[in-house]
Amino acid sequence: MIKAIKGTKDLLPADNPRWRFLEETVRRIFENFNYREIRTPIFEETALFARSIGEETDIVSKEMYTFTDKGGTSITLKPEMTAGVVRAYVEHSLGSQHPVTKLYYISPMFRQERPQAGRFRQFHQFGAEAIGSSSPVLDGEIIQTAYDILKALGLQDLTVKINSLGVPADRENYKQLLRNYLNDKKDKLTEDSRKRFDKNILRIFDSKAESDQELIKNAPMLIDHINDESKNDFEVVKEYLSKVNIPFEVDPKLVRGLDYYTKTTFEIISGKVGSQSALCGGGRYDLLIEQLGGKPTPGVGFAAGMERILLACENENSFTVDEPAIDVYIIRIDKELGLEVSAIASQLRRKNFTVDYDYLQRSVKAQMREANKLNAKYTLFIGGDEYKNGMINLKNMETGEQTNLPINDLSRVIDNLKA
Ligand code: HAM
Repeated sequence: MIKAIKGTKDLLPADNPRWRFLEETVRRIFENFNYREIRTPIFEETALFARSIGEETDIVSKEMYTFTDKGGTSITLKPEMTAGVVRAYVEHSLGSQHPVTKLYYISPMFRQERPQAGRFRQFHQFGAEAIGSSSPVLDGEIIQTAYDILKALGLQDLTVKINSLGVPADRENYKQLLRNYLNDKKDKLTEDSRKRFDKNILRIFDSKAESDQELIKNAPMLIDHINDESKNDFEVVKEYLSKVNIPFEVDPKLVRGLDYYTKTTFEIISGKVGSQSALCGGGRYDLLIEQLGGKPTPGVGFAAGMERILLACENENSFTVDEPAIDVYIIRIDKELGLEVSAIASQLRRKNFTVDYDYLQRSVKAQMREANKLNAKYTLFIGGDEYKNGMINLKNMETGEQTNLPINDLSRVIDNLKA
């Protein structure tokens, strides 16, 4: 038997009420902040991701689903949204409509990572990108949208971590400082971190190995070497968060795994989901739009992992959803009335009721069992002498109350039910 591919997951009917609650919360809150939805294709030219996320990052160097299509173009399934959103922003000149363009998305993403709890190969992100202003107020707002969504889902065990990576010149100078600091300790680094020393030295801070953490414990920190503008902006972000009552920690080791960041970066961590604890991450990317062929335009955004968030919600028991229910289940008493039942069902469905009935010629008892299983609010009995006399019987499943009514009255009764 063919099974689903490792690291992918079927979202079954029993899972989806929780997903829908999450999606509705995400849409409501983004729209309160006047972000509008964007949907971009599932695949893009590989070069788009290589140029924006960075050749040396884990995502581009190891994790992308890349293939050559029949026309010879190198295509990649999107591992994140920022690159595609920025491409669309430039391609459609979205900036000419409003000076600040605030966009949000909900979409599947693809990364060939080692699957584990909270880490998948096809996963889903929601996120936002605010393009067109370098104001740190917008950094604060972006962090707030993320935080408010997680809070609206009832999550409690959250830590907001923020940092500033300054501008590229700060980072280049700092990398040299770090190289000097680690040079005589290089042999003691883990193999992974030794590779990072040469290729992407900041990522050594992401190492989970205790020996690495010990070696970098007293290293100089980037946040102490950023320019004045970055420092001032960072102060405004902190003030914004205080004003809107969002507790935060400054984490100088928060370097993030994508190359496009400048100045503010942030993550929100859950204490309830094990090692894959980052529910979301993001930051400012003031050079990316230019890098992808647009006019110099600043931007800031974040993305959140939806599987992880739902795992955190489950572990915190942070919200519940109603059991699925239908409005009416029609019970056919006489077998030959099959098409009459279909006609009545269709009348009700066209009035916007959720209606179902038996397709298997089952006994009345079996139909009643099904009505209970489906949590029907009403059952409608069709058949017997009553039906011959033009009557049907409607039962309110909550109160047990039964009403006989003329079949011709059905639509009037239905309208009353609705009201
Ligand atoms: P990221 O940190 O790579 O950032 O991903 C954001 C979130 O997606 C993570 O915090 C995590 O919750 C979730 N995530 C990532 N990989 C996986 C996976 N394999 N399985 C399950 N969840 C995962 C970005 O993607 C940036 N585009 C964020 C951004 C937007 N920065 C600026 N604008």
